[in-house]
Amino acid sequence: MATRTPDTEARISALLERMTLEEKVSLMAGRDFWTLPAIERLGIPSLRVSDGPTGLRSVNSEAATVFPVGVALAATWNETLVAEVGAAIAREAIAHEVDVLLAPAVNIQRTPLGGRNFETYSEDPRLAAEIATAYVAGVQSEGVGTSLKHYAANNQEHERMTGSSDMSERTLREIYLAVYEPVIRRANPWTVMGAYNKVNGVFACENEFLLEQVLKGEWGYDGVVVSDWGATKTTAEAANHGMDLEMPGPARHFGAKLVEAVRNGDVSQAVVDDHARRLLRLIIRCGLLDGNPKSARGELCSARHRACARDAAGQSMVLLKNEGGLLPVSKNVRRVAVIGQPAYMPAIQGGGSSQVSPDRIVSPLEGLKAALGSDVELIFERGLDHEPAPPQIDWRLLSPDETFTQHGLTARYYAKPGCAGPVAHEEIDWHFSKLGFGGKVQTEDDLSFSVEWTGYFRPEQDGDYDFVISHSNEDVELSIGNEILVGQGTPSERELLFMILPLNRREARMRMQAGRTYPIRIRYSQPTERAIRAFNIFNISMRPPAPSRAAAIAAARAADMVLLFVGSGTTDETEGRDRRSMKLSAGQDDFVREVVAANPGTAVIVNTGAPVEMPWAGDVPAILQMWLPGGEGGSALEDLLSGKVSPSGKLPVTFPHHYEDNPTYPFYPGHKSAEYGEGIFVGYRYYDKAGRDVLFPFGHGLTYSRFEISDLQVSVSPSAQDVEVSLNLTNTGAVEAAETVQLYLEDRATREAMPPRQLKAFRKTSLKPGETARLTFVLVREDFAWFDMHAGAWVVSPGKYAVHAGVSSRDLRQAAEFELHS
Ligand code: BGC
Repeated sequence: MATRTPDTEARISALLERMTLEEKVSLMAGRDFWTLPAIERLGIPSLRVSDGPTGLRSVNSEAATVFPVGVALAATWNETLVAEVGAAIAREAIAHEVDVLLAPAVNIQRTPLGGRNFETYSEDPRLAAEIATAYVAGVQSEGVGTSLKHYAANNQEHERMTGSSDMSERTLREIYLAVYEPVIRRANPWTVMGAYNKVNGVFACENEFLLEQVLKGEWGYDGVVVSDWGATKTTAEAANHGMDLEMPGPARHFGAKLVEAVRNGDVSQAVVDDHARRLLRLIIRCGLLDGNPKSARGELCSARHRACARDAAGQSMVLLKNEGGLLPVSKNVRRVAVIGQPAYMPAIQGGGSSQVSPDRIVSPLEGLKAALGSDVELIFERGLDHEPAPPQIDWRLLSPDETFTQHGLTARYYAKPGCAGPVAHEEIDWHFSKLGFGGKVQTEDDLSFSVEWTGYFRPEQDGDYDFVISHSNEDVELSIGNEILVGQGTPSERELLFMILPLNRREARMRMQAGRTYPIRIRYSQPTERAIRAFNIFNISMRPPAPSRAAAIAAARAADMVLLFVGSGTTDETEGRDRRSMKLSAGQDDFVREVVAANPGTAVIVNTGAPVEMPWAGDVPAILQMWLPGGEGGSALEDLLSGKVSPSGKLPVTFPHHYEDNPTYPFYPGHKSAEYGEGIFVGYRYYDKAGRDVLFPFGHGLTYSRFEISDLQVSVSPSAQDVEVSLNLTNTGAVEAAETVQLYLEDRATREAMPPRQLKAFRKTSLKPGETARLTFVLVREDFAWFDMHAGAWVVSPGKYAVHAGVSSRDLRQAAEFELHS
């Protein structure tokens, strides 16, 4: 990893001396959506970026390993593991010839309804910063850059492109900027992405306070600030206030307008030199001036990447409740009812720019079949259609030929519209949710292409099937049997994807017979005039006939135990739209009650990326939060439910009883101004201060074992610069498991309003039964600091403090008091 060294800086200076103003400015905007321009005269190649953070999102919808989403990675509380995930994603990025991964997303989960909460880490800046530091370090250890995003206070999708996040400087610094600073200082992400929103009235991408004063000034950041896609709004303001790179390209506000602004004196040469220097530093860091040595390390969808995704998913799942040790599934159980659509078609990730084309999806049902073995009878019933919108077409009902030995359809790509002429590329395709495709046959000058998918569709139920096609141009045809279901004449509706991309949506319905094999053909043509390179969109969704609720209840009744899957659906948690509600959709709450009434031995498994209300939580013996676990989630469930691995995930976010309990309730969403009226009292900081009961507290998560914390010792160093905390952790249960000890600081010294306790350190430790580990933590001066608005500075109050050690924010087992002198 090339860092900032005198050699690098001298090399950059030499290059800058040879560059014209136009060349320097050309580096400051994309060539297209995903690349920077090359400067061939100087041997500077083009740099390529692509989205994360859930895996590498190929801009051509090619497969990559899907890892658990951000909130799930945070729920592992395991930095070593997250660094391994980062390194694996980097190797996948290299295989896709990507130099900078647009990840991680670290914004604080302020409101439980935030549309992108799944993608980000936590309500707590310390946990989020530790996880992000590990992720960034992991990615960059392989020579791929990261983009810490979205800087800053980008906490809701409502008024996504125009809203202002308004708050006091103390709140901004202690909560929202506190996520970024440690990552910048310790892991130095090679880029930082400026957010769409304003902060205190000024767009983040031209916000002098955020970019110049804090990021580049106070924190000494030497990397590149890139605008979120389309977030650069001005020329001189953005360039003068710290924006280094306008994306996507070609330039709208930089480019010729910026050259002009330099010529007429609105932007100085020195400012442009600084931006260009940072971009050259990035290009060198990515190895592009040195033959791109990282290119040898590419690795895609390998066994070790899948194993890493499985381990991460397993360590992320949170056992919220387990009365009577219902889980793992007992060896005495003979008949298990698996109920709920997510067991068959799980939500593995959220929607939007982070959406990876999976290499495979191991469903919970497949994982459970493996976990339970052939001695146990497994009955599966979908029970209820919980999807708010139709999910992606079920690839298991598709086959390229009538044998159904393979899933998917044959895709034939043509270099011209109209699906005629020679086939330019052929493959078997099964994932029909595409954000950018056709790149294999498009050329630099001709973006037109067409594709025809053919094969067979075999429904499993009698009844009406609803098909929805949404796509970025007009020319689409779907035929099933001999009928053209969607064609030129089918009325289309316009919709906006992620609040920015216009799509056409067409619907059709067909009555079908279970077990019959229908030929299916889909054609899509992309004329060059309307093509966007690598951002053309194509989705086919399908809603099957409603399942039988009565059959599900009967299955529950007849089984020894029930594994009941509930969730938010495969399309409901997405960039571009906040969640409508914290309640489960489609009457799932009533359904849970019905199933539990039929069989009290029911474990509920929750497939969401954010907290949901669980009004039935008191009535069910076991609850497992499985998050959006990536492509290997089913295998992770196999590990946990068979008892091979003990759950060890912990909540990175509080689960309140009711949406109305959360501290942003009186303020969210705001309109053009989102007033952060709860101030620093976000998440558990508020619930603890208000003494409010919650459903499951921050940091909570059970294992299959039991742990004790003992012998807490605190020693303050003579200089009062740091405080050492040590304790014993003992596994007092019967199985090997990992517990995460959490240290919360109580500040009794400061007179200003303070949260009762704040997380300052944590450690996940795996122990065998009867084993004890002595854990030592060091709290440093910054851990005691708060932002004094009168002084305009971070201060440490002299006086009394207490440190609490626990296994959740509300299960504190030991405490010790100490004093800090100034
Ligand atoms: C998202 C970013 C993403 C970018 C490029 C934006 O709409 O907010 O997270 O990196 O698009 O896809």
